[in-house]
Amino acid sequence: MGANELLADLAGVGRSPNGGYTRLSWDPATMELREWFVAQAEALGLAVTEDGNGNQLAWWGSGPDALLLGSHLDSVPSGGPLDGPLGVTSAFAAIAALRGSGWRPGRPIAVANFTDEEGGRFGVACLGSRLATGAIAPETALGLRDADGYSLAEVMSARGHDPHLAGPVGWLAECQYYIELHVEQGRWLGPAGAAVGVASAIWPHGRYRLDFCGQGNHAGATAMADRHDPMLAYAATMLAARELATVSGQRATLGRVQVEPNSTNSIPSRVTAWLDARASAEPELESLVAGIIVRAEAAATAEGATVEVRAESVTGAVEFDLELRHRLAQLLDAPVLPTGAGHDAGILAAKLPTAMLFVRNPTGVSHAPEEHAAPEDIDAGVAALTRVVQEVAG
Ligand code: GLV
Ligand code: MN
Ligand code: MN
Repeated sequence: MGANELLADLAGVGRSPNGGYTRLSWDPATMELREWFVAQAEALGLAVTEDGNGNQLAWWGSGPDALLLGSHLDSVPSGGPLDGPLGVTSAFAAIAALRGSGWRPGRPIAVANFTDEEGGRFGVACLGSRLATGAIAPETALGLRDADGYSLAEVMSARGHDPHLAGPVGWLAECQYYIELHVEQGRWLGPAGAAVGVASAIWPHGRYRLDFCGQGNHAGATAMADRHDPMLAYAATMLAARELATVSGQRATLGRVQVEPNSTNSIPSRVTAWLDARASAEPELESLVAGIIVRAEAAATAEGATVEVRAESVTGAVEFDLELRHRLAQLLDAPVLPTGAGHDAGILAAKLPTAMLFVRNPTGVSHAPEEHAAPEDIDAGVAALTRVVQEVAG
């Protein structure tokens, strides 16, 4: 099957009411996708292994110096169809084409399905690849809790996976290169007139939890002058984030918020918000976040409220392997572009030469149902990946 057919095969899994997809790690949808991954791999004659973190691998051959492909099958809440699945389906399609043509690789090839790339359930992105590479301690990851209060350890156990096995993996030492194909996020390839691009770098980025605390009270009986409303401090922080990121040319988002008690006729007692901040370089990220925190503290103080800030994850700048990316850009005659989105490739880049291919997204939209790539561009992405596999694993 080609990548378009494989994607159509997944189209019913984890559908959200808004037409997008909600596939959070270890939920029924991703469990179904894990079974789908095994079935597709076996249909191609690939041997499936799984590490202690739940990362699945489908192997064409075995032994050292493997070329690793693939991506992830989880999504953000109500996300698009391609962020993650395009990389897995394209890798399967490229292998199917190569096997069908009688070509045989000169090194092992593996396709990965990394667990919880989006961090949509436990808050930290790229959990599977962070655990595999040792970028996060297993005890830290296993103690993370989802919105219902279940820890990752409890959730893995409930799914029949021993959490004691989580942590750095041996299979990584067998891999020589990782190449992840991904749908473009943002709109760059369209105006450049190219169906496929090669990644240069990933912007540094981080997630920060802000807890605003005030005095819960009656919406009708409390004079405006007497309020200690944490929602006001949160709102001021939102405006500050927009202003500071705009002025400095960086990115700041408050896309998730919890209000207690979340009642129309009550002044809230607590507002918890999560800041996602990204910048072109690490000092810019630090100064953006510091500026937003100063404004959050000032707004909280002015309201007689408080704010506490905790970094939940911070990922430094990633420059993809220069030699590999030049080789791929030359081979494909493709433009090279940076990205503001995080990827497992950014985590693996600390361990082995890593590259990414992007497939044109005409809407530029991602993490939303409108995320899109034309079927012919998906085919162009698979053709590009197939050439890359022949070049790197020939
Ligand atoms: C993952 O897609 C991220 O950049 O948050
Ligand atoms: Mn992704
Ligand atoms: Mn994503």
